[in-house]
Order: sequence, then C-alpha cells, then structure tokens
Amino acid sequence: MQLNDRLKLRRYGPTRRLLRMGLILTIIWFMLETYYIHQLLLNASLFDKPIKPGHHYPGRIFIASLHWNNEAILRDDWNDALVQLVSHLGPTNVFVSVYESGSWDDSKGALRELDARLDVLDVPRNITLSDVTHQDEISATPTAAHEQEGWIDTPRGRRELRRIPYLARLRNWGLLILEDLARQGIVFDTILFLNDVVFTTEDVLTLLDTNGGSYAAACSLDFSKPPQYYDTFALRDSQGHEPLMQTWPYFRSWESLDSLLSMSPIPVTSCWNGMVAMPTSPFLSQTNTPLRFRGIPDSLALHHLEGSECCLIHADNPLSSTHGVYLNPKVRVGYNRAAYTAVHPLKPQNWISSSFSPSSSLARIVVSFWENRLRRWFTMPVFERRVIRRRVKNWENEEGNRHEPGEFCLIDEMQVLVSNGWAHV
Ligand SMILES: *[C@@H]1O[C@H](CO)[C@@H](O)[C@H](O)[C@H]1NC(C)=O
Repeated sequence: MQLNDRLKLRRYGPTRRLLRMGLILTIIWFMLETYYIHQLLLNASLFDKPIKPGHHYPGRIFIASLHWNNEAILRDDWNDALVQLVSHLGPTNVFVSVYESGSWDDSKGALRELDARLDVLDVPRNITLSDVTHQDEISATPTAAHEQEGWIDTPRGRRELRRIPYLARLRNWGLLILEDLARQGIVFDTILFLNDVVFTTEDVLTLLDTNGGSYAAACSLDFSKPPQYYDTFALRDSQGHEPLMQTWPYFRSWESLDSLLSMSPIPVTSCWNGMVAMPTSPFLSQTNTPLRFRGIPDSLALHHLEGSECCLIHADNPLSSTHGVYLNPKVRVGYNRAAYTAVHPLKPQNWISSSFSPSSSLARIVVSFWENRLRRWFTMPVFERRVIRRRVKNWENEEGNRHEPGEFCLIDEMQVLVSNGWAHV
C-alpha cells in the first residue's frame, strides 16, 4: 500500500508540478497583461486630445457628403458642425459639395438652411437637392446595353438595380465637381467625405493630421450603438481580414491590434467609418484613369457576392500601397449624440470602458482582449474565406482576363435597391 502510494506520487508528481507551474505562469501572464493594457490606455487617454492645437496646416479641403433621410441629425448636429468647420478652415480654403435625393423627411429643408448659412459666410459650394426617389430609380427600364450596367437578375426572378453601383454613381457626382473645378484651375489638396455623423472641428483636424498628414486615406471610427462600431462592410485589417469582433479590440492582424492598443494610426487595407480624408491627386490623375467609386462587375455579383464601393476605392487607389490606409482611433464619431458622448467620456475614464457602459471596468477590457485572442486562436481566415474564393475562381474561369483586385472586400451577399431603402436577396 505505502509503496504503491509512493510509486504513484513519483509517477504523477512531475506532471502535477508542471500543471501547477503552468497555472501560476498563466495567472502571472494575465496580471501582467492587465497591467500593460491599463498603462497603455492611461497613456492613450492622456494623449487622446492634443494639449494645444499642434496640427499641421491642413491644406485646401473639398468636403463631400451624401444625404438621404437625415433631417434629425442635420438639424441637431451636422449643419452646426459643418458651419464651424468651414469657419475654422476659412471659406477660401474649402468647397462644400452636398448631394441629397429622394428623402421623405425634410432633409431638403434642413439643407436649404445650411445653404443659407454658408451663403452668409461666402463659402463656395454645390448643394444639389434631387427629387429622384428610389422608386424612380428602380422603375427605370434599362434598354441600351450601357444602361443595363448595375442591373442584375435576382433569385426572386426579377431584374433589379444593385445598391452598390447606385451608391457609387452618387458618390462620383461630387468627384465630377472636383474635376470641373480643377479644370478651372481651382485645386484642392484633400477630399473629406463626411457621413451623417456627430463630429467636431477638432475631430476633423486630428483626422487630417493622421500619420503626420501622410496617407492614401485616413478614417475615423464610427459608432451607432456603442460598444459596437458601425460600418462593418468596409473595414479590413492590415492583412485584409474582416474584423474578428464588432467591439474593441476588433482586429485579427497583430499589426492593426498593436497600433490600436497604443492608440496610434492603425494600418488597414480598407476603412470607411464616418469620416474619410483622401488626397485629391488620384481622383484628378492625368496619367492614369482617374480614381472613381465603383461596384464589382455584374457578372461577379451574379455569383451572390458584393463589395462596398467604399472598400473597392482603396483596392483601386494606387496610393494605398505607397502611402497606406489608416484608421485613426483618436477620431471617434457617432450617428447620434448619445453614441458620440459614450465614446468621449469625461476624464479620467477611458473611452473603451465607457463605450461598453458608463460604469464598466478594466476587467471588461481584459475579457474583450481574451475574447479576441481566443477567436484568433480558434478561427482560420482561410476556411472562412473559402466560399468567397471558390465563387471568384468560378467567375474567373468563365472568361479569360477576369480579375477583381478588391477580393478582400467581398462578402456573401446580394444587395438591391427597393423603394424604401435596400434589401438583401
Ligand atoms: C452642381 O454641380 C452639377 C454637376 O457638375 C451641375 O450640373 C450643377 O449645375 C451645379 N449646381 C450649382 C448650383 O452650381
């Protein structure tokens, strides 16, 4: 009996000791990491806003926005924020391009008010309020071959207008104006795309100053229902992967994660989260085809795939590979005032825990970090992407010379315009 026990002890002893040591090491790791993240966030929140405005000269800015049923935020926040921004930049350094169509709230009234205020300030602008509704768009019957672009035969047995080519067409409207102005010798350094978000002049200046002002594109981070960020359709990490989770710390690639933790500009392959700044040069190129928004070809969309025009633009932009696309985590905007407030807490709380809930603690952050780690360990992008890859491959095989540079943008969806918005089919 005694001998047996001693033998057992000798046999299992080392394993047990190893297990115990592993457990202790894990706990130490956990504690060190908690401390490390805490320090990073402390530093980040100290430097979240510059002590004094130390921005570079932002250059001449072309501001472009699209609106559809945005009356509430226009009246409550957006118009004021835009007037403040152009006042700060100076009317001679800006151009405001606004395109609205087919809203059934009084977005037009709100934008006419904006127009009047910009007029007082003598701000050059083109505010176009169109009566064309979604219903008008989808009732058009395309006849000529070139008119059929953007229309697709859907599984529900109809020929329908794809949402993305439609949006790309609207976004390109502002670029035509930019091009017209350039032809007249009126040139801008940067184009700033503004969504219907709550933002401040300081937010825009910080965005323009991302990475010392050197980028192919710089985006803010957008929130509608914090802690989730909003625009999942266009955000891809430094390796082109979709974010692992919709809450902090979002990303799979270590490069993107690392920058997020230190709150420095995050290298990504694509982003379009509320506000985006891009140099105008690719849009005005004389040597290459000028950069434009687009959808994927209809023939590819037929394989039940879709990609955001706001992701494809980065795939097509020749500056992306040389200057980089960055998401600036210091610039956080909201689709409503409550969301904006949640990600801009009063000190000393950091914005991440306040985005979870006003009383959230550091533990919540560490748990999220572990959720991210486990997802990284137990999921493989190759397997997640195999359906997409196979469909693209089939499309490539249908005809020679087919290639989609924005494959990382693609998701398993088909989106069409309907009278009251858009739909998945
Ligand atoms: C706005 O731009 C469009 C497209 O270039 C042009 O047709 C329209 O006349 C402009 N509107 C104003 C008010 O300048």
